[in-house]
Amino acid sequence: MRKTLCPIESTFMNNHRATARQLAQEAIAAGHPLEWFEQLYAQALSEGVSVPWADHVPNPNLIELFQKIDGRFSFGQRALKVGCGLGDDAEWLSGLGFDVTAFDISPTAISVCESRFPNSKVMYITRDLFQAPDNWSGAFDLVLESYTLQVLPPELRAKALKQISEFVLPGGYLMLITRLRGDSEAIGSMPWPLAQREIDTLKSQGFVERYSEDYIDDEQPAVRRFRGCYQREA
Ligand SMILES: C[S@@+](CC[C@H](N)C(=O)[O-])C[C@H]1O[C@@H](n2cnc3c(N)ncnc32)[C@H](O)[C@@H]1O
Repeated sequence: MRKTLCPIESTFMNNHRATARQLAQEAIAAGHPLEWFEQLYAQALSEGVSVPWADHVPNPNLIELFQKIDGRFSFGQRALKVGCGLGDDAEWLSGLGFDVTAFDISPTAISVCESRFPNSKVMYITRDLFQAPDNWSGAFDLVLESYTLQVLPPELRAKALKQISEFVLPGGYLMLITRLRGDSEAIGSMPWPLAQREIDTLKSQGFVERYSEDYIDDEQPAVRRFRGCYQREA
């Protein structure tokens, strides 16, 4: 069950989405489409405003995904959380027993993770997805990507998804949670939903779809989402 926002909360969230959209627009126009994440986190920290996606709880869409696939797959130990934000999903995975590495392009986000979870077993790292260490290639039993692709400009997404998929070791799994749009639907404003054909590129990159779901998330307003679990061919 999703949280229902009262009108004041809803206005508050809309304002913060507008701030994030404005920062994204300016960064893209300046030719630095990845710079606004750090700007947003730093501004949130210094001015005490919230980051629109940071709910300070593990993503319910992730928890439900695990419930739905419960027992179907046997995951190995090493997990990687892409674009970990403030760390809630990484901590949740760690609580399940995974040995988690979590990274984000924003040093401020990573320092917040470290201060929120001082006794964490998660290894938090400041890193740009596009400059990942070579030894992450094919190194993880489970890679989780939730909500990062949808905040990357569409022209970077194919490269990003390919990069993310390369972290999975043969036989390992990639979990994906994202906003979804119809193939002919306009992309709209950030967060930009993915089209199914973008996700389906995984199938031509050596992945088998083991679970997928196109559903309406009952938050307000309702959001169409996709979540899936893909296995890399051994
Ligand atoms: C929409 S947020 C989602 C955060 C988190 N997954 C959550 O659900 O709360 C996307 C995150 O990806 C990070 N990010 C964006 N581009 C990145 C990149 N190239 N490399 C690593 N992290 C990136 C952002 O800083 C941000 O924390």
